[in-house]
Amino acid sequence: MTSDLATTHVGGMRSNDRERGVVYYGDNLPILRDMASASIDLIYTDPPFNTGKKQARTQLRTVRDPNGDRTGFKGQRYRSTKVAERAFDDDFDDYLAFLEPRLEEAHRVLTISGSLYLHLDYREVHYAKVLLDSIFGRDCFLNEVIWAYDYGARTKKKWPAKHDNILVYVRDSEQYFFNVEEVERIPYMAPGLVGPEKAARGKLPTDTWWHTIVPTNGKERTGYPTQKPLGIVRRIVQASSRPGDTVLDFFAGSGTLGEAAYELGRRFVLIDDNEEAVEVMAGRFAEMEAVSFVGLDARQNQFVERQGELLS
Ligand SMILES: C[S@@+](CC[C@H](N)C(=O)[O-])C[C@H]1O[C@@H](n2cnc3c(N)ncnc32)[C@H](O)[C@@H]1O
Repeated sequence: MTSDLATTHVGGMRSNDRERGVVYYGDNLPILRDMASASIDLIYTDPPFNTGKKQARTQLRTVRDPNGDRTGFKGQRYRSTKVAERAFDDDFDDYLAFLEPRLEEAHRVLTISGSLYLHLDYREVHYAKVLLDSIFGRDCFLNEVIWAYDYGARTKKKWPAKHDNILVYVRDSEQYFFNVEEVERIPYMAPGLVGPEKAARGKLPTDTWWHTIVPTNGKERTGYPTQKPLGIVRRIVQASSRPGDTVLDFFAGSGTLGEAAYELGRRFVLIDDNEEAVEVMAGRFAEMEAVSFVGLDARQNQFVERQGELLS
């Protein structure tokens, strides 16, 4: 693979002040390796979980249609038809060997005040925590955020697992950026006990976040199977970055981090090696200004062709 990142991109962004976001299509490891050290202020990333299951994906063909169900590049309407149901493997023989070099690069590209939020589930979180302790240092572990939700079937064979784990590590335990005052406040559980003024202001969240999953038919839904709620990712961006900062997600999926970053005035770098993810992002970011798409690997031509189809 050849890349022009080193010469024309700074920290994964083109050295152009006006650029608000860039989406790379390709395996994240070589792209991360090409990124400048200390160039990213915040990483939120959500790798495929090692569930041993197949994740279902619907493959769509998109054609221009003024009455279509999706908005694509330049606000054009498109109609999507299902052409196939595809499955991607959410199972790795050696999950940690897959994650380790990527997390090493994550550590390298973070600025001295930067943070990493690694979104995992209960089956992998303890292994990943030991790995991150070795890469970042135990003193750089900041939090384990529990995202609790209440959705789906409930087994009666054990306590139903209804949470994800988000490990938070900082690049430097003395110099990291964290501003909880920027985070949207949440309602008190018993507002009657705290008085009207406090009740109206709400309280700051703790390390346990109750938040619904992405509603199955809400406006936020992109159709990408593993899409995470904007409310969760927005809170991370608010607390651990400043306006103008650059944020990165190298397992970007539907691009939730990009949407939160754009809304909050941060620049974003997103990477995914699945063309459906990149197509979903192209639709999701269609109304945004100064966002570019870069195909870097052998499939670049195919990607360019597909983008051509979207544009034609
Ligand atoms: C759990 S999903 C991320 C979902 C995302 N947080 C969202 O809100 O939509 C994980 C993503 O990692 C991508 N992925 C897996 N291996 C990758 C690799 N080596 N390089 C780049 N992306 C990869 C998959 O295609 C998938 O879209």
